[in-house]
Amino acid sequence: MRVAAIVPAAGAGRRLGSRGAKAFVPIRGEPLAIHALKILEAHPAVRWIIPVVRESDRDALRRLLRRHRLDKALDPVLGGPSRADSVARGFAAVPERANWILVHDAARPCLRLRLLEAVLKVARREGAAACGLPASVTVKAADDTGSVRLTLDRDQLWLAQTPQVFRRDWFAQALTRADHELSGFPDDASLVEAAGFPVRMVPGDPWNLKVTTREDLVLAEAILAHMDQEAARRPLWPGRADF
Ligand code: CTP
Ligand code: MG
Repeated sequence: MRVAAIVPAAGAGRRLGSRGAKAFVPIRGEPLAIHALKILEAHPAVRWIIPVVRESDRDALRRLLRRHRLDKALDPVLGGPSRADSVARGFAAVPERANWILVHDAARPCLRLRLLEAVLKVARREGAAACGLPASVTVKAADDTGSVRLTLDRDQLWLAQTPQVFRRDWFAQALTRADHELSGFPDDASLVEAAGFPVRMVPGDPWNLKVTTREDLVLAEAILAHMDQEAARRPLWPGRADF
């Protein structure tokens, strides 16, 4: 697999309400976005990393990429109005030689190598894979007033996470929609599904949370502290790379 990893980091971070950009909010002493970038850098199948940022953050990210020796990272691409637009712009910068596309939110700093490995493995077999948590709670759909419209059968439900990995040709075809349609797709898998390709779910990692609010930052700090302890006991790359 020759994987190009697109890392959308061009959101406004509105719900976090930080003074600076969410991608640079310090967490365990490092900017939020750097954590996931380091894990992607460490995986041998990932050949290129394409960070997507807002214009105002571009130079700061360039400096960080150099300081942290993220050698697989290409020059940051400018994002768009929605997450899907940002991913599409990242895709436009993917090198010719890449045959797989991975997308991972910069806002998910607690990615572990073994989850990355699991998603890549299933994608290689099936053509497209997304990780997610099987729903462990009852999910209800309600209208604007809070009135319940339906209660869903949780046996069939997954809470989608990233990374999500796709054959390059499938992803390219999924992105052939008009720009104004893209914002209607909440994740990358939904675009690929809508293009008619099967996407396989892979059990995700409860630690792989998306930092959305202040509360998530506290949780992510604690999780990263645990991950550091684990890393102290185990080598970062556990076995021979199979890619
Ligand atoms: N993202 C992006 N471009 C956008 C919107 C989002 O690259 N136009 C990225 C974010 O930077 C983040 C990921 O997509 O890494 C998931 O988005 P989310 O958690 O919603 O982050 P923000 O959009 O930054 O936060 P908020 O919605 O609270 O403003
Ligand atoms: Mg958002």
